[in-house]
Amino acid sequence: MTLNVGVIGTGMIGQDHIRRLTQVLSGVAVTAVNDIDRTRAESAAPEGAEVFDTPQALIRSDTVDAVLICSWGPAHEEQLLDCIAAGKPVFCEKPMVTSEAAALKVMEAEASFGRRLVQVGFMRRFDGDYRRLKAVIDGGGLGLPLMYHSVHRNASVPPGLYTSEMPLNDTLVHDADISRWLLSDEITGVEVRLPRRSRQGVELRDPHIVLLHMAQGAIVDVEISVNIAYGYDIRGEVSCEKGVASLPNRPATVISDQFGIRQAIPEDWRERFIDAYDQEFREWIDAASNGTATGPSAWDGYAATLTADAALRAVDSGSLEKIHMIEKPALYAAEAPLAAE
Ligand SMILES: NC(=O)c1ccc[n+]([C@@H]2O[C@H](COP(=O)([O-])OP(=O)(O)OC[C@H]3O[C@@H](n4cnc5c(N)ncnc54)[C@H](O)[C@@H]3O)[C@@H](O)[C@H]2O)c1
Repeated sequence: MTLNVGVIGTGMIGQDHIRRLTQVLSGVAVTAVNDIDRTRAESAAPEGAEVFDTPQALIRSDTVDAVLICSWGPAHEEQLLDCIAAGKPVFCEKPMVTSEAAALKVMEAEASFGRRLVQVGFMRRFDGDYRRLKAVIDGGGLGLPLMYHSVHRNASVPPGLYTSEMPLNDTLVHDADISRWLLSDEITGVEVRLPRRSRQGVELRDPHIVLLHMAQGAIVDVEISVNIAYGYDIRGEVSCEKGVASLPNRPATVISDQFGIRQAIPEDWRERFIDAYDQEFREWIDAASNGTATGPSAWDGYAATLTADAALRAVDSGSLEKIHMIEKPALYAAEAPLAAE
């Protein structure tokens, strides 16, 4: 059976996912596209795909079994609610939504529908290195995880489009999600420290050090540098009671030339996480073909939204900002169990 997918938002990641769905993966076809910029949708549409004028018409079309949302964050809420109303599995790029109220609405709609339909684009959970790291932590041989050091560096971000809030409400969400997943725990509070300001991103507040306080006592420190020039560099190390477990540093290529031996760092997320994105969609295609979703859920999208909100408050207050989550709805209760003490 082929899963017919409609893609909403045909910008940078929308085009990359269309390439993935049409050229890399099997059991899937892109039958519909939509973008507020119709010309962009037309040029991104693979052969045979219909270009729709509105996301709603695409979502309701009989030619679409499942939906991929790659529009801008503020548009996600309405598009997700329309997918749930239509009973169609939906993959939504992060951020799932941009407010706590919107996250609650999405979870309520999904709970009323009665089965998971929403998968959120936290692709690190599908990356082989992160999966091996989690297996070590969950195996328990190193004892309890006490600290996690997460480094998130971007070579550059688009001037004007990427604002000073975005390190915390757009970039941090990946580190927040992977911390919850690796440590099988929830974030209860956030602190933010502002180091010396980089001259690379003159109009931006950059870099940031963020401390995530986990419910079982571990603390995560996250370096977010979004204009660090040298490349896209993602690092992580978990300090446990009896040892440490780390992601390997992932240079793409080793170059030997007249200057010696150098390691080339990936330029951006597409290169570093190419296999993770492929695996993320393999697992989504399987789940969506069965009318449901897998991996990061609306609950995880909700947790990331609360973390981003708390981080923005923490910049203003300079102190620890607490997070208060609702009780986990039964629909999500079976997932991500807390680690045994
Ligand atoms: N998982 C990841 O690692 C990752 C990486 C990059 C981007 N993203 C997320 O993916 C989303 C898109 O990012 P991008 O880099 O492709 O941005 P982009 O600006 O290149 O593309 C977004 C596209 O959505 C269209 N759009 C905006 N609002 C719309 C609406 N209401 N209806 C239909 N189309 C609409 C825009 O015209 C544009 O073509 C963002 O939420 C971003 O945070 C995730």
